Amino acid sequence: MSAMQGGLSFGLYAHITGWGKALPERVVTNDELAQIVDTSDEWIRTRTGIRQRRVAVDPSETSATLGAKAARAALEVADIPASKVDMIICATSSPEHIFPSTACVIQDLIGAVNAGAFDISAACSGFVYGLGLAKGLIASGQAETILVIGTETLSRIVDWSDRNTCVLFGDGAGAVVVQASPVPGGILTTEMGCDGSGGDLLSLPAGGSKMPATLETVASGQHFIKMNGRAVFRFATRVMADATRRVLDKAGLGIDDVDLVIPHQANERIIAVSMRHLGLPDEKVFRNLQYYGNTSTASIPIALTEAIEQGLVKPSDVLVMVGFGAGLTWAGAAIQWGVPTQEKEAPFWRASQRAAMYNLARARSQLMRISRRLEGSLITEEGDTLTEVVGKRLDELRKSKKEGEKEEPAEKEEQGGSGEQ
Ligand code: UT7
Repeated sequence: MSAMQGGLSFGLYAHITGWGKALPERVVTNDELAQIVDTSDEWIRTRTGIRQRRVAVDPSETSATLGAKAARAALEVADIPASKVDMIICATSSPEHIFPSTACVIQDLIGAVNAGAFDISAACSGFVYGLGLAKGLIASGQAETILVIGTETLSRIVDWSDRNTCVLFGDGAGAVVVQASPVPGGILTTEMGCDGSGGDLLSLPAGGSKMPATLETVASGQHFIKMNGRAVFRFATRVMADATRRVLDKAGLGIDDVDLVIPHQANERIIAVSMRHLGLPDEKVFRNLQYYGNTSTASIPIALTEAIEQGLVKPSDVLVMVGFGAGLTWAGAAIQWGVPTQEKEAPFWRASQRAAMYNLARARSQLMRISRRLEGSLITEEGDTLTEVVGKRLDELRKSKKEGEKEEPAEKEEQGGSGEQ
């Protein structure tokens, strides 16, 4: 797929060509939560629909490592190397740091050496905001292959003594590859909205520049999620239906044209009420919140991946993704699905090729870090720092490896093997 057609880079379509998810192994059931706060399985199930959630108990598992795992899975489905990605958009409500962005950490982890990278802070609407940006970057010819990731370790910012919030959230990540294509369809329209007057209804008060971390902010729990659940509930049921109608209107489509809605997986009752407003039957609305709880930015890409795994998405289907969250924000996307969803048979050597690329990316990252530490004292006669020398050497190595790979499939085809890319 090329972003340039006869020198014109406008009017291109943005198709989702890869998808993937990553979830921590540890399952935490409602009964387990009932042992730490005053709640019950019955209350959580009937008020939210959630039965269990995943929690990243291993400190080395972070928003970036989960995001990188989901991104690798999406690249595998799209069957493209990380070096082909030219932008990484990471939506997260639990970034690794204020800066550097989680997107940059993921860029390093997957070795996307030709990509720009940035985070979006639009809370649970962030992934759909990311799809809107990806569509715009592709249509304006500024990018050709984009990773849009939603990733969370909300368990690290949840107050485990607050029953109003701790029963709701879970950890996980989802990612899609969005690629430029001349084929009509893909992400048709998006809707991105906000009402900042509701910012205090759902927030993480401290740790930013308004309320920097102090002993007091830590002692009074200001680094945890605070929420007015009832007010967010009312807002959510209204905007989910409105945003769905608006993206469909923009695309010239009606509710009856929709094959599947993938809503933000926050609360079964929010989904049920807003989809009822739209007159959409249950079988056209995907749900998996019973297994994962509310994974914020990750909920929609995880749900999309599972909907595909369950055979619910076919080429030409019209999908709507719609979410809401802190800000207050909301977002919707109408998509005409454009690629086959059955698993493709990859050439037998692809897995080892991919593993080698990721090992090389790790080695590159380590070398760059070491050389940067030594930098300053070591400058070549040409004025290049050691980092630049190492970077150039690694790029040369990568290029020669790539050339070798181009020849390899051709050789395999000659021997009767599949040269599919
Ligand atoms: O991605 C966006 C994230 N946020 C959301 O999606 C939140 C949207 N809001 C909601 O999902 C719902 O408002 C909640 C699930 C948070 C709460 O459900 P609700 O039906 O709105 O309950 P409520 O807040 O009206 O509380 C009802 C009662 C209260 O007790 P009293 O005051 O009636 O005695 C709460 O203290 O339920 C109590 N309660 C609980 N009881 C047992 C609140 N949390 C719990 C709990 N277990 N975990």
